[in-house]
Amino acid sequence: MITVTIDGVVHEAIGGERLIDVINRAGINISQVCYHPQLGPIQTCDTCMVETNGHLARACATTASAGMEIFTKSEKAAAAQREAFDRILSNHVLYCTVCDNNNGNCTIHNTEKLLGIEHQPIPYQSKPYEEDHTNPFYRYDPQQCILCGRCVEACQNVQVNETLSINWEDPHPRVLWDGGSTIGESSCVSCGHCISVCPCNALMEKSMLGHAGFFTALPKTALSGMIDVVKGVEPETGYGAILKLSEAESHMRELRIRRTKTVCTYCGVGCSFDIWTKDRHILKVEPLDGPTNGISTCVKGKFGWDFVNSADRLTKPLIREGGKFREASWDEALDLVARKFAETKAKNGPDSLAFVSSSKCTNEESYLMQKLSRAVIGTNNMDNCSRYCQAPATQGLFRTVGYGGDSGSIRDIENAGLVLIIGSNTAESHPVLATRVKRAHKLRHQKLIVADLREHEMAKRADLFFRPKPGTDIVWLSAVSRYLLDNGMADTTFLHQWVNGLEEYKKSLAPFTMEFATRTCGLSEDILKEVARMIAEANGVCILWAMGVTQHSMGSDTSTAISNLLLITGNYMKTGSGAYPLRGHNNVQGASDHGAMPNFLPGYQSVDDPEVRSRFEANWNVQLPSTKGLDNHEMIEAIHQGKLKAMYLFGEEMSLVDSNANFVGDNLSKLDFFVVQDIFFSATCHFADVVLPASPSLEKEGTFTSTERRIQRLYEVFEPLEGSRPDWRIIQDIANRLGAKWQYRHPSEIYREVASLTPLFAGVTYERLEGFKSLQWPVAADGTDQPLLYTKGFAFPDGKARLFPLALSEPTDQPNAEFDLHLNNGRLLEHFHEGNMTYRIEGIREKTPDTFVEVSPELAKQRGIQSGTWVQLTSRYGQVRVRALVTDRVQGKQLYMPMNSVESPVNRLTSSYTDAVTHTPAYKEASVHLRVLPEVGESPLPRINHRFGHPTPQHGVEVERKWKRADYRVPGNGLVQIQTN
Ligand code: SF4
Ligand code: SF4
Ligand code: SF4
Ligand code: FES
Repeated sequence: MITVTIDGVVHEAIGGERLIDVINRAGINISQVCYHPQLGPIQTCDTCMVETNGHLARACATTASAGMEIFTKSEKAAAAQREAFDRILSNHVLYCTVCDNNNGNCTIHNTEKLLGIEHQPIPYQSKPYEEDHTNPFYRYDPQQCILCGRCVEACQNVQVNETLSINWEDPHPRVLWDGGSTIGESSCVSCGHCISVCPCNALMEKSMLGHAGFFTALPKTALSGMIDVVKGVEPETGYGAILKLSEAESHMRELRIRRTKTVCTYCGVGCSFDIWTKDRHILKVEPLDGPTNGISTCVKGKFGWDFVNSADRLTKPLIREGGKFREASWDEALDLVARKFAETKAKNGPDSLAFVSSSKCTNEESYLMQKLSRAVIGTNNMDNCSRYCQAPATQGLFRTVGYGGDSGSIRDIENAGLVLIIGSNTAESHPVLATRVKRAHKLRHQKLIVADLREHEMAKRADLFFRPKPGTDIVWLSAVSRYLLDNGMADTTFLHQWVNGLEEYKKSLAPFTMEFATRTCGLSEDILKEVARMIAEANGVCILWAMGVTQHSMGSDTSTAISNLLLITGNYMKTGSGAYPLRGHNNVQGASDHGAMPNFLPGYQSVDDPEVRSRFEANWNVQLPSTKGLDNHEMIEAIHQGKLKAMYLFGEEMSLVDSNANFVGDNLSKLDFFVVQDIFFSATCHFADVVLPASPSLEKEGTFTSTERRIQRLYEVFEPLEGSRPDWRIIQDIANRLGAKWQYRHPSEIYREVASLTPLFAGVTYERLEGFKSLQWPVAADGTDQPLLYTKGFAFPDGKARLFPLALSEPTDQPNAEFDLHLNNGRLLEHFHEGNMTYRIEGIREKTPDTFVEVSPELAKQRGIQSGTWVQLTSRYGQVRVRALVTDRVQGKQLYMPMNSVESPVNRLTSSYTDAVTHTPAYKEASVHLRVLPEVGESPLPRINHRFGHPTPQHGVEVERKWKRADYRVPGNGLVQIQTN
């Protein structure tokens, strides 16, 4: 700590801290138009000039040193600030009263007021450009753009999509997309970073336009007239009077605009933000204070919410009668469900029923579902969709380090010297997490290795990218581990102090020679040695993996191999290291954490542990079943065998997302009684006997747990759409009809019970999670959480990790002469999972209307395929018809299908093979035959899809180019660049 003097008062500062941060912390108001703490100094606006040691300096780019004397209001500083702001105003018309950005947070408006500028010495200069409305979600108005460059910085260095730049050398600079394209045809991924940081109305969400203000919906001619009136009276009244008017209007808006914090409903990154609403209209999503994401979102979190107001939301319970559904009252439907459950239990025993929880719903809802299953019905037949993706990763971590969760935070990944990504298309599946890796790679020279079948964005950016043959990751991982151990490159100190089982593990590595690995994986020895060298030399290694690893018949073992590799290189127990299985759904971590599993009560407490059971039994006042129940995969088998008679599933599109979908559908139709609870009439509802209309996340309260074990609260944005109900209420209503007598009035009461029974969450309370506060489990009773999971040891009784010996088996469903192509599948940035929510977003559909199959240029040439050619894919299990997209993202005989389709779901083609340990389907092991159909349609991806854009990478906003302009002059006199970042 040092001390500095600001305007004559001594303040504490951290040596090297930005002056602007010290000034802001001291509560001193100073203009700072281009500064945003999450972007750092951009230095384009010059409005933050302060005087220090007789010279002017930009407070955002100057660092504090001991004894510094700073004047924010001296004559020199004030004159420079005003001059700088005056220049900004020459780019912007102040029509605040009729501006949709007049919501109390407009930087231009507020700076104008702060500096008390009454008149504009430099007149407004119009720019020779039209507004750009070509993106479905936002528009750019060059006339209002003050050229602060925040958007460019955010796009280049936070999102790292590298779409935006400013043509500083042009007589009329403006923001450019891909160097001069329309927004619609550019590489813009509609993540919204630029809009979220724009300090004025130059970039605006279209959902705000004409909706936020009281006068902003007026016809354009009327608005122009009003703007002219403002301009006309300004010379006489000054801006002060005009601003008073606009402030009154802004205050009026507060009465009708609500800002509610929520957590994203899509992927497992866990972005949180405020949602602005006016009645049921979503004005915008404003990310700012989220502990994970700050100003970041992806297109789904920023613009993917209108499905909540979709006209086809379910609002009435449905009962199947005579092969058709009819509407029913809630009482009738719930009575029927309870009666049928009771009858089935009485007739066939509790294990003839099964329950599937939703990884999209809240922790509290998963907790209640498993309580219904165990305490009310008496069965452990309880699972969630982590069975379809993440269970093998959890298993690999259980075996080696003890807890089934990411070993650190996303911030730890940023701090790594090397990030190794295996089987994860991170930029599309976990977009905001990927931005942190891209940023560290671009700005901090973090090293990046990617192992994947496809050359996706992260692969293109990687320092080293290689394509192992499908299903062989375990081989190269184990060979690299053996090579490190054999060549003295392992961390022996760490192994000695923290790890058991080295000798047995070493023995298991005997078959994994370099020679064996190169032959099996189709990789060169040089590549594998380079991987080993980079790992050994890195200052911290984080390994990120996802469904490309877990959805294999050896998913658990490959995940174990990853953890083994981290252990032998000492890459646990410190920041910038560790294991990061990237959780797919927003709450897939939380669903498992809260007991929606066949073998665990909440907090991974085993159902066969009498001590655990007796604790729950005492609290729930029941006898609990003690043997592991059926998982999702076994449930389908049990229906097939006639053992499972009734099922209750909520928020899960099982008939499309389970593998071998035809087989799954056939079996679901055999159930005696099937209850599906969802917000839409999903494909799975077709098999139901009762459909119950639920509420999406924006219509309820509760908590979600993200991939980094972060528990966050979501608040009710809208009341449940009339006729629908939050899942926790529905589950409670059913339980009570079965005699449970639950009396939860709010999810916080449910969580109080969870915390009291679950050591992992002992200190979790709604108070500790208020607003944007969060906790990363385990949470001790006093509220202490653990962002870094292992600090004092591993989660085993002796505190030591365990190397787990591995053996090899063959991938399933391999290609042969008939099924000669390997079919891979996964996520797309724009859509989520089967697409039930995202296909209801008009803008997303416009950009990405349909699914497709990616075909390599080689294969396309060989078979006469072009983008748009219809093909029929046939596997040993089913067939689909789909359009081809020719792309070099895939190679040779590899195909790739996004999983987002209701009409042509890829799972009609996948098998029923699973990972031996967890029963996670081997979705990524599928072989198909491709038949070219005579029809050729349009390319499945329209030209306006971002994949056809041409990014323009550069080092941020490049303000030095502005400073070189002949007409640029530093405001005030005597600016000294003391120290710039
Ligand atoms: S990708 Fe598009 S929306 Fe995202 S910051 Fe860049 S220009 Fe803005
Ligand atoms: S569009 Fe970009 S450069 Fe223009 S005002 Fe907004 S953030 Fe600044
Ligand atoms: S989908 Fe994932 S990355 Fe995108 S905003 Fe939501 S949580 Fe963040
Ligand atoms: S805030 Fe813009 S130059 Fe410092």
